[in-house]
Amino acid sequence: MKEFDIIAIGELNADIILNGIDGMPVIGKEIFAKDMLVTLGSSTAIFAANAAALGMKVAIVGMIGKDILGGLVRKELNAKGVDTSMLIEHPSIPTGATIVMSYDEDRANVTFQGTMDVMTLEDIDPGIFKRARHIHVSSIFMQSGIKKDLKRIYELARQNGATTSLDTQWDPVEKWDFDYKELLPLISVFLPNETELCCMTGSNGIQEAINRIRPYMNTCVIKQGSRGSLLIDKDGTINPLPAYINQNVTDSIGAGDSFNSGFIARYIKGAPLPDCQDFGNLAGALNTTSAGGTSAFNSREKLKSTAKKIFNKDISWL
Ligand SMILES: Nc1ncnc2c1ncn2[C@@H]1O[C@H](COP(=O)(O)OP(=O)(O)OP(=O)(O)O)[C@@H](O)[C@H]1O
Ligand SMILES: [Mg+2]
Repeated sequence: MKEFDIIAIGELNADIILNGIDGMPVIGKEIFAKDMLVTLGSSTAIFAANAAALGMKVAIVGMIGKDILGGLVRKELNAKGVDTSMLIEHPSIPTGATIVMSYDEDRANVTFQGTMDVMTLEDIDPGIFKRARHIHVSSIFMQSGIKKDLKRIYELARQNGATTSLDTQWDPVEKWDFDYKELLPLISVFLPNETELCCMTGSNGIQEAINRIRPYMNTCVIKQGSRGSLLIDKDGTINPLPAYINQNVTDSIGAGDSFNSGFIARYIKGAPLPDCQDFGNLAGALNTTSAGGTSAFNSREKLKSTAKKIFNKDISWL
């Protein structure tokens, strides 16, 4: 028996969210925001927190600075039930942060990468690969150190008997430098969204993108927002599954990470792939019932009652 169901390797940062801003920021001037929230950010942290909320034993490997925001990241992860004993503290580089300027439905984000761009495989204790049944990596384009070591990370996971997954997330510089031919054979479950997959394969449409990755991939799930998801088997069979309908979306921040946590939580229990996809869709939809990426996932009891009440879905087994 391995100690952890999942070890998530990825970026960590704080989000400083400003709401009710009096107009657009202008160089040389100063304006007020009516409301501020300083909280745990990062795709990998949302994934880890929500997988823990779904009952998985989860640890996270990421780098923080020896500073106030690093302390906040650790404290909030602990509060979500994620093991933080593998976090790496850099002595001088600050923890990353995203300033989120929120305007109604839309947001303007500025990210300082800080420690997230610095961590490499050399910083990580090689012993971790023995300790988990599954290794998940996310947001590689925000982490040049991890990105260059990705092949080795997946080889180590596999050598130690772990299954693997990857959500590349968006490339902020849109270079899409990702060697899918080399990496996909090492990845058990590949979890891009539709636009990301088209960009990284240089494709004009989803079918073309699927044709390109099919010879190299194992299982792939393509996320399509309120349209649901596509499950692609190794033989190229495409299984579309519509999203659970939420008439009252609060916001969809973190829906993709929540989808990942739902899919992987079922996957590591050996559930059939269509069940994993269905639970991924449900986790993504649950995410949209409450603000931000983790607040819908506060307790298993709340998840069960929301699933029943809003989506008429019985998950009493959870
Ligand atoms: N408005 C919505 N209503 C119902 N379900 C949704 C909605 N938005 C997303 N989902 C569910 O969540 C899944 C993942 O969402 P999405 O496709 O937005 O991921 P993403 O683009 O990776 O998002 P992220 O910005 O979190 O990385 C979808 O496949 C769908 O099942
Ligand atoms: Mg995403």
